[in-house]
Amino acid sequence: MSPSQVRRFLLGILICCTPELFAAKVSVDPSEWGDPLGKECISCHEKSSSGLTKQWRQSAHAEAGVNCLDCHKASVDDNDAITHEGQVIATIVSPLDCSRCHTVEYEQQKGSVHSEAVGIIENRLPALAGHVGGDAIVAAGCDQCHGSKVEVRIDGSLDPRTWPNSGIGRINPDGSKGSCSSCHGKHRFSKAQAREPSACIRCHSGPDSPDKAIYEASKHGMQFEAHRDEMALESDNWVAGKDYVAAPTCVTCHMGAAGKLKANHDVGMRNAWSLNTPVSMRQQLVVFEDGEKIELPESHSPPRRGSEISKADGSMGKVKAVASPKRRRQAMKLVCLECHSKAFTESFMNQFDEVVRLFNEKFGIPAKRIMQTLYSEGLLTPAPFDEPIEFIYWELWHDEGARARHGASMASANHTWWEGMYLVGRNFYSRFLPQLERIAGEEKANALIQAYVTSNDHHQWLEQPQKSNPILGYDVKRQADE
Ligand code: HEC
Ligand code: HEC
Ligand code: HEC
Ligand code: HEC
Ligand code: HEC
Ligand code: HEC
Ligand code: HEC
Ligand code: HEC
Repeated sequence: MSPSQVRRFLLGILICCTPELFAAKVSVDPSEWGDPLGKECISCHEKSSSGLTKQWRQSAHAEAGVNCLDCHKASVDDNDAITHEGQVIATIVSPLDCSRCHTVEYEQQKGSVHSEAVGIIENRLPALAGHVGGDAIVAAGCDQCHGSKVEVRIDGSLDPRTWPNSGIGRINPDGSKGSCSSCHGKHRFSKAQAREPSACIRCHSGPDSPDKAIYEASKHGMQFEAHRDEMALESDNWVAGKDYVAAPTCVTCHMGAAGKLKANHDVGMRNAWSLNTPVSMRQQLVVFEDGEKIELPESHSPPRRGSEISKADGSMGKVKAVASPKRRRQAMKLVCLECHSKAFTESFMNQFDEVVRLFNEKFGIPAKRIMQTLYSEGLLTPAPFDEPIEFIYWELWHDEGARARHGASMASANHTWWEGMYLVGRNFYSRFLPQLERIAGEEKANALIQAYVTSNDHHQWLEQPQKSNPILGYDVKRQADE
C-alpha cells in the first residue's frame, strides 16, 4: 500500500470499518435458527417467569423466529452447560453466543475499553476495591458496572458471588468478555432502548464517570429533553443529521452513525484523550490482527503495521492498524459537523483541550511529582489509602479532576468549573499543600512547593502582591461603584 492508501485504510477503520459486513444485519441464514425444540421452552416459561417470555414475544427476535433455544443452547463440553427439561442449555448467553448471528457487533466490542473493564480494576487499582471496600462491595458495587469473572460450580450452576451480573467487561465461562445485555436489556434486546442516554447512565454516573449529570446539564441534554419525540429512536436507520437533528445522545457521539461515519460498538474509538488518569494523555489506538486493542500514549512512537508488540495481557501480537489521536478526534468532529459549523466545532474542541492542558500543567503534574517524592523518600507508607493525603490526591484527579475534564469535553459549564476545577483548586491549595507540610515538615515542604508549584507560571499569583482582596472587598466595592 502507498502511504495515502494506508492513511485511507486507517481512517476507514475509524469511519467505516468493513463496509461489506455492514450490508447484512445478521451474519447467518434464517435456516440456522428457529429450533423446533425451542417451542417447548416457550409454552412452559409462559407460566414460570412469564414476564421474560412476554418481553421476548415483544422483541425483534420473536418476530424473526429466533427462540429461547437458539440463544440458550449449549454443548455438553461447555463448563456452564446444564441439562434442563431434556435439553442441554446454559443460562449465560455470552457475546460469543450472540456472535453466531451478530458477528459485526461482536468483533467491534471485542478488545474495546468496555470489554477490558474488569482488567482495569485488577491491574490499576487492586487496593481501592479490596482495602477500602471488601468482597461484598466488589460483587454488588464495582462488578455490577465493570463486570465480574463468572465462576461455575461443579454442578454447572453459577456462583452467586459472581452472578447475576451484566457488567460491561464481564469475563464469561467461555472466555469471551462483556455482556450484550448491559445496554440491550433482556429479553427485548431492543436497539431503540439502547440509544437512550439511560442505557449508558446506569454506569456512567458518579465519580468514576460523571457523564449523567454533565449531559443533563448541557445544552444537548436540554434539547433532548425538549424534543424527545423528534429523536426517531425507533427508526431502523439512525443517522445523525439525516434521521434526526434535534440533539445528540451519548450514543450519537460515541457509537452512532453520523453522515458518512458508520455506527460502531467500540465506544473508545473516537476519544483522543485519556480523561480518567492523574495526568491526561493523548492516546493512539493499536489494533491487532486478532481484534484485540491497546492504548498507547502519543509520546510512544507509532508501532509499524505488521510489527509485533506486547498486548494488554503481556502476550505478543501483530499490529494491524494504528489510529492516532488526531484521526480519532477527526472522527468525533465528523459527528459535530452534522449539526454545527466547522469553526464552531474546532473552537469548541480548542476550549476543551485547553482545559485538559490547564489541569495537567497546573495541578495534575505538580501533585503527581510531589506524591512521587513523598513515596520515594519514605515519607508515606507504601500502602495506598491509609493516609489522608492519599485520599486528597485521589479525589483531586479522580473526582473533581475528572469532572472538570469530562465537563469541558461535553459542554457542561457547571461541571467544568463549580463541580470541577473550582474544587480541584480549593483542595490543592487548602488541603493538599497543608497536608504536605504536615507530612514533610516546613523546610522540605517549602522546597517541594518551590520546585513544583510556585516556579510554575500557573501558580505565580501566589507570590505576587495583590492590589485588593476580593474576599473582603467584594460587597463594599460593588456598592461604591453603584
Ligand atoms: C416443563 C417446564 C419447562 C420447560 C419445558 C423449560 N423450562 Fe426452563 N425453567 C423452568 C423452571 C420451573 C425453571 C426454574 C425457575 C426458577 O428457578 O424459578 C426454569 C429455569 C430456566 C432457566 C434459568 C436457570 C438458572 O440458572 O436459573 C433457563 C435459562 C431456562 N429455564 C431456559 C429454558 C430453555 C432454553 C428451555 C427450552 C429448552 C426451557 N427452559 C424449558 C421450566 C421449564
Ligand atoms: C437473543 C438471545 C436470547 C433469547 C432469544 C432468549 N434469551 Fe434468555 N437470556 C439471554 C441472555 C443474554 C440472558 C442473560 C444471562 C446472562 O448473560 O447473565 C438470558 C437469561 C435468561 C434467564 C435467566 C435470567 C433471569 O432473568 O431469570 C432465563 C430464565 C431465560 N433467559 C429464559 C429464556 C426463555 C424462556 C426464553 C424464550 C422465551 C429466552 N430466554 C430467550 C438471551 C436470550
Ligand atoms: C456506577 C458504576 C460503577 C461502579 C459502581 C464502579 N465503577 Fe469504576 N468506572 C465506571 C465507569 C463508567 C468508568 C469509566 C470512566 C471513564 O473512562 O470515563 C470507570 C472507571 C474506573 C477506573 C479507571 C480510572 C478511573 O478511576 O476513572 C477504575 C480504576 C475503576 N473504575 C475502579 C473501580 C472500582 C475499584 C470500583 C469499586 C470499588 C468501581 N470502579 C466502581 C463505573 C463504575
Ligand atoms: C454500550 C452499549 C451496548 C452494548 C454493550 C452492546 N450494544 Fe448493541 N447496540 C447499542 C446501540 C446504542 C445500538 C443502536 C446503534 C445505532 O443505531 O446507532 C445497538 C444496536 C445493535 C444491533 C442492531 C444493529 C442494526 O444495525 O440494526 C445489534 C444486532 C446489536 N446491537 C447487537 C449487540 C451485541 C451482539 C452485543 C454484544 C456483543 C451488543 N450489541 C452490545 C448499544 C450496545
Ligand atoms: C440465532 C440468531 C441470533 C442470535 C443467537 C441472536 N440474535 Fe439478535 N437478532 C437476530 C435476528 C434475526 C434479528 C432481527 C434482525 C432484523 O430485524 O433485521 C436480531 C435482532 C437483534 C437486535 C435488534 C433489535 C431491534 O430493536 O431491532 C439486537 C439489539 C440483537 N438482535 C441483539 C442480540 C443479542 C444481544 C444477542 C445475544 C444475547 C442476540 N441478538 C442473539 C438473530 C439472532
Ligand atoms: C454496565 C456498565 C456500563 C454501561 C451500560 C456503559 N458503560 Fe461505558 N464504560 C463502562 C466502564 C466500566 C468503562 C471503563 C472501561 C475501561 O476503562 O476499561 C466505560 C468506558 C466508556 C467510555 C470511555 C472510553 C475511553 O476511551 O476510555 C466511553 C466513551 C463509554 N464507556 C461510553 C458508553 C456509552 C455511550 C454507553 C451507552 C450506550 C455506555 N458506555 C454504557 C461501563 C459501562
Ligand atoms: C456531543 C457529543 C457527546 C455527547 C452527547 C456525549 N459525549 Fe461523551 N465525550 C464527547 C467528547 C468530545 C469527549 C472527549 C473525547 C476525547 O477524549 O477527545 C467525551 C468523553 C467521554 C468520556 C471520557 C472518555 C475518556 O477518555 O476517559 C466518557 C466516559 C463519555 N464521554 C461518556 C458519555 C456518556 C455516558 C454520555 C451520555 C450521558 C456522553 N458521553 C455524551 C462527546 C459527547
Ligand atoms: C444531532 C445534532 C447535534 C450534534 C451531532 C451535535 N450537536 Fe451540539 N448542539 C445541537 C443543538 C440542537 C444544540 C442547541 C442549539 C444551540 O443553541 O446551539 C447544540 C449546542 C451545542 C453547544 C452549546 C452552544 C451554545 O451556544 O451554548 C455546544 C458547545 C455543542 N453543541 C457542541 C457540540 C460538539 C462538540 C459536538 C460533537 C462532538 C456536537 N455539539 C454535536 C445539536 C447537535
